[in-house]
Amino acid sequence: MKKIIVTGGAGFIGSNLLNLLVPKNPDRLFINLDMLTYAANLYSLKDIDGCRNYIFEKGDISDLETVKNLFRKYEPDSVIHLAAESHVDRSIVDPAAFIRTNIAGTFNLLEACKTNWKPGGGNLFHHVSTDEVYGSLGDTGLFSEETRYDPSSPYSASKAASDHLVKAYHRTYGIPVKITNCSNNYGPRQFPEKLVPLMILNALEGKSLPVYGKGANVRDWLFVEDHCEAIWLVFENGRVGETYNIGGSSERRNIEVVKSICKVLSEEIERPLAELEGLITYVTDRPGHDLRYAIDASKLKRELGWQPKETFETGLGKTVRWYLGNGEWIGKIKTGEYRNWIAKNYGERDSSAQ
Ligand code: NAD
Ligand code: TYD
Repeated sequence: MKKIIVTGGAGFIGSNLLNLLVPKNPDRLFINLDMLTYAANLYSLKDIDGCRNYIFEKGDISDLETVKNLFRKYEPDSVIHLAAESHVDRSIVDPAAFIRTNIAGTFNLLEACKTNWKPGGGNLFHHVSTDEVYGSLGDTGLFSEETRYDPSSPYSASKAASDHLVKAYHRTYGIPVKITNCSNNYGPRQFPEKLVPLMILNALEGKSLPVYGKGANVRDWLFVEDHCEAIWLVFENGRVGETYNIGGSSERRNIEVVKSICKVLSEEIERPLAELEGLITYVTDRPGHDLRYAIDASKLKRELGWQPKETFETGLGKTVRWYLGNGEWIGKIKTGEYRNWIAKNYGERDSSAQ
């Protein structure tokens, strides 16, 4: 049986990926290596817990011994590497964990691959990364796989460094790698520090909806299941040594996203739209805030036939309904740590800024 270590499988994208892959691939063993930071939620994996082809291992990828021991124990054929510190605002306040996990952690995994994998052994290190490594676009243009790296935040710089390490291990040591760089994901099981779930949960509780600056920054939004399907397609059929950009062709200004959330919510819970939109509060902008991200995903479409199944509207509807129907999940992530972060982040922002 082929064995795949999935790092960060208890996070947002990792848990969606495992929920998709474990039931569909009984001939593969999925080993979820996750240190369970604040962003993890084992409850997101309750449906596959107990599956014969799924194992959970708690461990820190920034600890080389942990990684080495796990490779010795399972002798994995492949790695799908998602574990990361992933929130830009946190990286601005406290970058150290980003350097440790995103850079040193990736290095440790690559070292373990180098030590344990033989040439021609049919192995693969699939590195899951972000479009934020490319920096910011102006009003026009798209990120392609050839766009020069120009990261703005400690988060994107740490992901850029990890991408470079992955490429270097391929060129220098011949480790078989693939890299995917994806745009902003949204969907079920996302920790509510990110824009979409934060706005949904705040609106439900009648709390303010903090929009940075003028809300004019543009992101390309992709429903998480579309991202997971693209990862699996590249993992199975993509070319070794290649990078593939993944995006939803769904550019929206942040204020449009927040207003769309208000609209879907007002229809779902029958609350007046004006009441929900009245919660929108413009707050001090994020330092170094990238203006616009947009993806050219034509390579993925051309080579592997991928395109997203959801539009932003259908995906957002599914997402809002998922949060409305999963009160228990929400209750479990509302830990003390979560509340402290929200208070610290938003308590210090000037809500009169426009
Ligand atoms: P997340 O923050 O929801 O989850 C990260 C997971 O990694 C958590 O379960 C956490 O416990 C685990 N983790 C963190 N540090 C670890 C360590 N030292 N050792 C082991 N496990 C550790 O992140 P996400 O949104 O699911 O993102 C997953 C990956 O996808 C990241 O690499 C991120 O850069 C990338 N990505 C995310 C997006 C997005 O919009 N969320 C877009 C493109 C790429
Ligand atoms: P986020 O979800 O943090 O993702 P990223 O920074 O990786 O793109 O933020 C998405 C956009 O929303 C980004 O332009 C910042 C903005 N934003 C707000 O306006 N208010 C918020 O409370 C948050 C969390 C984000």
